[in-house]
Amino acid sequence: ELSPIDKAKFVAAKRAVDCIEDGMKLGLGTGSTAAWMVRCLAERIREEGLQVQGVPTSSRTAELARSLGVPITTLDEARWLDLTIDGADEFDPELNLIKGGGAALLQEKIVASASDQMIVITDAAKEVRQLGAFPLPVEVIPFGWKSTKTLIEELLGSMNVLSCECALRMKDGAPLLTDEANYIVDLHLKRINEPRQLSMALNQIPGVVENGLFIDICDMVIIGHGDGSVVVRD
Ligand code: A5P
Repeated sequence: ELSPIDKAKFVAAKRAVDCIEDGMKLGLGTGSTAAWMVRCLAERIREEGLQVQGVPTSSRTAELARSLGVPITTLDEARWLDLTIDGADEFDPELNLIKGGGAALLQEKIVASASDQMIVITDAAKEVRQLGAFPLPVEVIPFGWKSTKTLIEELLGSMNVLSCECALRMKDGAPLLTDEANYIVDLHLKRINEPRQLSMALNQIPGVVENGLFIDICDMVIIGHGDGSVVVRD
């Protein structure tokens, strides 16, 4: 028997996997909700002989897909994808997202941007009126990261934000390394008034590789609930 939160993630994932058609090239997201999607996809492959190619957005997802017999390839091999299914850390009424809580935002954004369609699967707790309660992850090059962080703080200071605490993400006493061997700086902003401007300005800073704001990328959000019901936003 699944806990209500796992049930919510599972039903959202299952609904999204129902949208997959034979022959599709798929982006496979990262995180606990996306893991449910990979499991549901594996089941359709087993039971219906569904033919798909998956492009994983992290080493973790690649490992899970491999272990469940979901065929995977690289983005360069696939070139263009029909659909990406991924989780999110927050979404707003415009279906703009914060992602990167699982440190996979760079590959996730590249893969979603190379897809005809992106579906986000989530539980209701990630729905917000305004993005920013979840700390915004920014992927930075390790070289000179302290200077990059200072430039980020100066940018935030000029942008009229409520709070601009920035913290290097750590793991086991050392800076967390992403799959691309970069660092993550988490921006504690509380509220993001102009996500599009912020995203563009962050990506202008030398040393910033990418940020976790997904603007105009997501086409549909599928929200699962603990009672097994599903709500779709598009
Ligand atoms: C990974 O970097 C994130 O973008 C994930 O999509 C996000 O953290 C969602 O994870 P959960 O489904 O585990 O909440």
